Amino acid sequence: MAIGNSLSATILVVVLVVGARLPPATGASQGPSTLTSCLSSANLHPVSSSSSDYKADSLAFNRRLSYKPADIVFPASVQDVASAVTCASQAGIKVAARSGGHSYAANGIGGEDGSLVVDLKLLNSIKVTASTQTAQFGTGIRLGDLALGLFNGGKQAMAHGTCPYVGTGGHLGCGGFGFPSRNWGLALDAVIKAQVVLANGSIVTASATENQDLFFAIRGAAPSFGIVTSLTVKTHDAPSSNVMFHYVFNPLNATTAVNTFLAYQNYGANSAPPTLGMNVELDSGVFTMTGVYYGQKSDFAAVIKPLLDAVPQPPKSSSVKTYDWLGILKQLAGGDGSLNTTTKADTFDTFYAKSLMVAEDEHLTKAALTSFFNYLYGPGTKSDTSWFILADLWGGPGSAINAVSSTETAFSRRSTLYTFQFYASSSNSAPPYPSDGISFVDGMVNSITSEMPNTDFGMYNCYVDPQLSAAEAHTVYYGDDTTKRLETIKSQLDPKNTFSYPQAIGQ
Ligand SMILES: Cc1cc2nc3c(=O)[nH]c(=O)nc-3n(C[C@H](O)[C@H](O)[C@H](O)COP(=O)(O)OP(=O)(O)OC[C@H]3O[C@@H](n4cnc5c(N)ncnc54)[C@H](O)[C@@H]3O)c2cc1C
Ligand SMILES: *[C@@H]1O[C@H](CO)[C@@H](O)[C@H](O)[C@H]1NC(C)=O
Ligand SMILES: *[C@@H]1O[C@H](CO)[C@@H](O)[C@H](O)[C@H]1NC(C)=O
Ligand SMILES: *[C@@H]1O[C@H](CO)[C@@H](O)[C@H](O)[C@H]1NC(C)=O
Repeated sequence: MAIGNSLSATILVVVLVVGARLPPATGASQGPSTLTSCLSSANLHPVSSSSSDYKADSLAFNRRLSYKPADIVFPASVQDVASAVTCASQAGIKVAARSGGHSYAANGIGGEDGSLVVDLKLLNSIKVTASTQTAQFGTGIRLGDLALGLFNGGKQAMAHGTCPYVGTGGHLGCGGFGFPSRNWGLALDAVIKAQVVLANGSIVTASATENQDLFFAIRGAAPSFGIVTSLTVKTHDAPSSNVMFHYVFNPLNATTAVNTFLAYQNYGANSAPPTLGMNVELDSGVFTMTGVYYGQKSDFAAVIKPLLDAVPQPPKSSSVKTYDWLGILKQLAGGDGSLNTTTKADTFDTFYAKSLMVAEDEHLTKAALTSFFNYLYGPGTKSDTSWFILADLWGGPGSAINAVSSTETAFSRRSTLYTFQFYASSSNSAPPYPSDGISFVDGMVNSITSEMPNTDFGMYNCYVDPQLSAAEAHTVYYGDDTTKRLETIKSQLDPKNTFSYPQAIGQ
């Protein structure tokens, strides 16, 4: 695929009506006060540090981290977004979009001090066209409302994460895994078209036929390239029968835990059909297998049999129940199961998390798993954090995630068997964060990687880890080839680094 050069020739500037409303560009960096007055002249009513709403409006979901934005705006149209970006780039201020605000690194408020935060919550409309199985929505909409909108608009659905309050802008810009993903792909694989505001304030369309480089970049590395204001996605008929299962294996000693995990790894690699999504959860050590079979209950026993036959001891307790589509989404949502985010305020947490992607051709060894469970059942029992680990099955026979070529989207790790998330929060979810929390989570990862020093483990960009340097982050999230290509595209679309945060492409 050609890199970059065709872009300036093919880009379509759809609307650019900012000149009349903004002070003239000076070309030089003017700083925060120029930004605020520019935003005010554009009728964007900026929330600045002197505003009474500033503190509440700059809170991150992850209360471990707090940063001070230059200003916060709530645009009501794509033209407003373009005006805001133009003001910031003229003033030499970096820009962060905020959709659901759930970035683990508080990147929705810039991941550092001094960004203009462009909050997209007013851009939350959705239009479903069931006859063509497509939907278009504003990226201010959150996952729960998206799922309700799709279902109410003709029993449609797509793959995405479980938490109703996660925003579509961040989620589809980094990946978007859910239990249907082995069958339907990541959320970003559903995208067929995007409307994007670029650093120079132009509003463009990206798709397989327009601005292909931008289309590549926003599917995995969106925050470095622009503000995606609306997305058009391919939808699926929502399955009417969905079998949810839980198997609890505790108590296990390290040896039995290793063998139970090996049974899961083998089952995932060899037997699990794509209509099955599942994970292993280790919740402060309790070993659970949870998942959904998107099919009939009468078929489920045969589907799960190879796994149950292979575990060293049978589950201590189990449950298998069938739900309709909204029923299964509510089960997975946790809390009170509400999908409508306008009916109740979001929660928050105070946490640190890391990830690890285990490749299809390099399974965890018995030695690595033994080291891992010895760590969990040793230091893990003494930590004053509240922790869990998930190992989500991504690959295996017929996985739609891995059917996509590694050069098609900026999300390029397309041979993952399963993805770990290691997550530790303060015991009451509020600050302060325990002083050994970060080293405890690092220890979880090291217990595995130290036993497999030559393995190229990837990490998952949606579980963004602010402890990594930009260079480390690019290698583990994108790999070196994709990073090079993204750097070329970045230099063409955002040469002044307007869309900047500590791990952005171009840092
Ligand atoms: C409770 C919880 C549950 C989760 N569950 C899952 C899960 O099941 N599966 C999964 O894959 N992930 C999951 N995640 C991770 C989630 O996908 C990421 O944190 C995601 O980036 C959050 O998106 P957001 O819009 O809420 O965050 P934000 O903080 O608003 O944005 C995240 C990043 O994307 C940028 N961004 C936001 N909107 C746009 C836009 N429109 N255009 C360009 N850039 C934009 C921001 O600037 C920031 O850099 C979960 C996270 C949490 C906190
Ligand atoms: C904005 O940037 C794009 C991409 O580099 C370019 O094609 C377009 O001409 C620019 N528009 C303006 C108004 O400068
Ligand atoms: C959520 O609830 C509000 C208030 O009852 C309602 O107006 C809105 O339409 C609901 N959203 C969805 C997606 O169903
Ligand atoms: C672990 O548990 C298994 C099964 O209960 C038992 O056979 C084994 O001896 C135990 N191993 C250790 C080291 O305690």
